Amino acid sequence: MAKKLFWLFVLVGVCFGAAGAALTACFIWQGVSSPWLPLLAGAVLLLALFIEAKRLSAWLLSPLVDMAKDLDELEKNAPYPELLPFIETLRRQQVQKDENLRQRQEFSANVSHELKTPLTSISGYAEMIETGIAKDEDVKEFAGKIHAEAGRLIDLIRDIIKLSELDEAEPGEEMQPLDLLPIAQDTAGMLAFNAEKAGVDISVSGCYAQVLGRRELLEELIYNLCDNAIRYNRPGGFVRVSVSEDAAGVTLAVADNGIGIPPEHQERIFERFYRADKSRSKASGGTGLGLAIVKHIVIQHGAELQLASAEGEGTTISVVFPPVA
Ligand SMILES: Nc1ncnc2c1ncn2[C@@H]1O[C@H](COP(=O)(O)OP(=O)(O)OP(=O)(O)O)[C@@H](O)[C@H]1O
Ligand SMILES: [Mg+2]
Repeated sequence: MAKKLFWLFVLVGVCFGAAGAALTACFIWQGVSSPWLPLLAGAVLLLALFIEAKRLSAWLLSPLVDMAKDLDELEKNAPYPELLPFIETLRRQQVQKDENLRQRQEFSANVSHELKTPLTSISGYAEMIETGIAKDEDVKEFAGKIHAEAGRLIDLIRDIIKLSELDEAEPGEEMQPLDLLPIAQDTAGMLAFNAEKAGVDISVSGCYAQVLGRRELLEELIYNLCDNAIRYNRPGGFVRVSVSEDAAGVTLAVADNGIGIPPEHQERIFERFYRADKSRSKASGGTGLGLAIVKHIVIQHGAELQLASAEGEGTTISVVFPPVA
């Protein structure tokens, strides 16, 4: 098509050039002395050129206009093969947009459901106390349940806000070189009490290695990974956090010998609200958003996620950060 167009433009140019040359020759031959006649002829030529340009551009654009009428059949309606890469980009963007929309709709539905469950139970316990159905000795227990469910709601809302902030942030924003090992040590320290309560041993080892990052996000990432490694573990189990560095970058690995993740769930655990072990997650107040937050933080840092898990044996989640230039 590009070749055809080229020759078409050459032809139109040659035609108008020839017409202009013929007119000039005529005037010279006739010995025209008045300036009005050549001016008039020039104006007519220009007008003809303008009309032809409009006609040509309409002719050129009409297949594109037809193509835009049916975005689902873009490839079929492609007027020129030269447009295929452009169509491919449009198609990819369209698919991405559809997927984003689907995810957003699914997220809203899940959020509503997750909010409704604790609220229903808060409302139920409160009603029993209000109407006097709850005996005096039950009131304390019910108040405890209301407190726990309210805490779950607060955690859920905090995680949703965090995810939406991460959604809005540009990857690589406000990053600075940071030593990963002390951050891992501090964060694991925050979970020492939880680990002790669960009968799980938590330790941090490795070398000093710098990554380009945001401290609060790195803390959040390590916290979520360690929290899972403790929560989905067994008394007597361990959680080992390590930091290592090689040519590929800096690797943070959180390994546990807990319950593991069955293969059929492994691909989906980074999705929002996806839980492999629903009962344990809910019983321990999990929102199902921890690993979705981890995934977002990893993307923000231009890092890569790796998961290795065997049911009943344990899980290792590694994050490989790019080397600091
Ligand atoms: N180390 C692990 N060992 C076994 N299963 C895990 C591990 N980490 C995550 N999982 C599984 O992946 C699911 C998703 O984890 P995620 O952290 O996103 O949610 P959660 O732990 O249920 O809730 P929270 O948002 O409070 O962290 C968990 O419900 C659990 O089934
Ligand atoms: Mg979790």
